Amino acid sequence: MRKENLYMGDYQLGIAGLGVMGKNLALNFASKGFKTAVFNRTENITEEFISKHKDANIKGAFSLKDFISLLGRPRVIVLMVTAGQAVDSMIDNMLPLLEEGDIIVDAGNSYFKDTMRRSESLSKKGILFAGIGISGGEEGALKGPSIMAGCSQEAWQVIAPMFSSISAKAYDGSPTCDRMGPDGSGHYVKMVHNAIEYIDMQLISEVFHIMQHAGYTYSEMADLFENWNKGDLESYLIQITSKILRKKDSETGRSILDVIMDTAEQKGTGLWAAESSMELGVPVYSIAASVYSRFMSSRKEERVEASKHRPKSVKIEVDEDQLHDALYASKICAYSQGFYLLSEASRFYKWGIDNAAVAHIWQGGCIIRARLLQNVEDAFRDKQLKNLLLDPFLLKSVVEKEKAWRNLVSAAIDAGIPVPGMSSALSYYDGYFTSRLPANLIQAQRDYFGAHTYTRVDRQGSFHTEWERD
Ligand code: 6PG
Repeated sequence: MRKENLYMGDYQLGIAGLGVMGKNLALNFASKGFKTAVFNRTENITEEFISKHKDANIKGAFSLKDFISLLGRPRVIVLMVTAGQAVDSMIDNMLPLLEEGDIIVDAGNSYFKDTMRRSESLSKKGILFAGIGISGGEEGALKGPSIMAGCSQEAWQVIAPMFSSISAKAYDGSPTCDRMGPDGSGHYVKMVHNAIEYIDMQLISEVFHIMQHAGYTYSEMADLFENWNKGDLESYLIQITSKILRKKDSETGRSILDVIMDTAEQKGTGLWAAESSMELGVPVYSIAASVYSRFMSSRKEERVEASKHRPKSVKIEVDEDQLHDALYASKICAYSQGFYLLSEASRFYKWGIDNAAVAHIWQGGCIIRARLLQNVEDAFRDKQLKNLLLDPFLLKSVVEKEKAWRNLVSAAIDAGIPVPGMSSALSYYDGYFTSRLPANLIQAQRDYFGAHTYTRVDRQGSFHTEWERD
C-alpha cells in the first residue's frame, strides 16, 4: 500500500537514520525546499515521523530499495547513524543498489581514519563519499548548524548548495558551511571543534568552581556570565552557562546544579583529538587535560573516599576582572592549541585546510561559536601564521591579561582547587614562548641510563658520553 505511492527519482536527497539529529536535518532540508526521502531500519520510527510531519517535501520509505529508488541521480544519501560499525553496515547494504557517481554523505561524528578508509574503498567502486562534521546539537540540526565537509570537489559541487542552504550564518551573514579538504578532513575539523569544546567547557567549569569557593551565589554567577556575554567573551557556552545557573529542578525546587552529579561522560571525539595530537607530536596540553578531567570526574566514589584523607580546600578571594581575564587568556590558548593541531594534521595528511575558513564556519551554529572567532579568522588571513599566539592582536590580548591569569591560577592552586584547564593552558603558553627548556637534562639522563645519545648545541649529529658511575 505504502509502496504504491512512491515518486521514483523525484527526491533530491535521502536521509538514512532517524535519530533526533536525522529527523531535525530532514526537517531543515525540507523547510528549505529540498525534496527529502527518509529511511530508518525500524519501520515504526519512519511511520511515526512522517505521520507527525506531513510535509510535502518529505517522503518515507520502508525498505532500502524503495528509499534508494526515490532519489534522482546522482543520488545523495546522508547517513545519520551512530558512528562506527553501523556506518559500515549501512554502506554495505546500500552498495548493491547504487550506481557510479552516487554520493554517500556520512554526517555523524565518525572517526576521521574511518572516513579516509571509506573514501578510498568507495572511490574504487565509483561511489563518491563525503565525511561531514555537523555541529550545533539538536537545535542546530533543525535551525542551522555549522557544517565541515571533507570530500572531493566533484562531490562538493553537488552537495554544497544543499548543505549551505541549511547551515547557520557567520557574523558577516555568509553560510557556516564549507569544504575543508578531501576525505577525512571534515571529520578531523569536527573532532578538533569538539576538542576546543571540551577545553572551553573545562575552563568555564573551573571558573564556576573558583566562584563557588569565593562564596558567589548561583544568581550572582549567572549575572556575571550574562554580563560577560555582552563583551569579548560572548559565546554560546557562556550564554547557556548563565541559563543553567538560574535553572531550578522541577522535582525538588532546588538549583538544578545541586542535583546534577559531578561526573561528566564523553563520546570519544576529545579522546581521539588527544590521541591524534600524540601521534603527530603536537604539544596541546589542554586537550589532554580536559579529557583527563572528565575521567577524574567520573571516579566519584574514589574521590569521595580519598577526600576524607586530606584537609578541605580553603576559601579563595578573587575579583571579577581577574576571573574574566584568566578565562579570556585561557580561551585564546584553547583556540591556539586546537588550530595548532589542525595545522599540523593538515600538513601531515596533505589536506590543505584553510584555518581562516574554519574560524569562519565556527562563528555560527556550532557549540563553540564565539565573538572571538572573528579575531581568529582575521589572524589566519596571514597564511604564514604558524601559531595563533604569534598573531600581534591575540598575543597582546593575552599579555595584557597575563598577570590576572597567573594570579588566579596561583590563588586556585594555593586554595587546593584543581584548575587543569587553566594551568595547562598557561604551561602551554609559557612552554611555547621559552627558547631554552630543561630538556637538555632529559637528554643527558636518557644517555646516562640507556646510552640513547643526545644532540648538541654546537654540532650536528648524535653523541654519547661515558658517564661516571658509582
Ligand atoms: C556538536 C557537539 C556534539 C557532541 C556533544 C557531546 O558539535 O554538536 O560537539 O557533536 O556529540 O557535544 O560530546 P561528548 O559526549 O564527547 O561530550
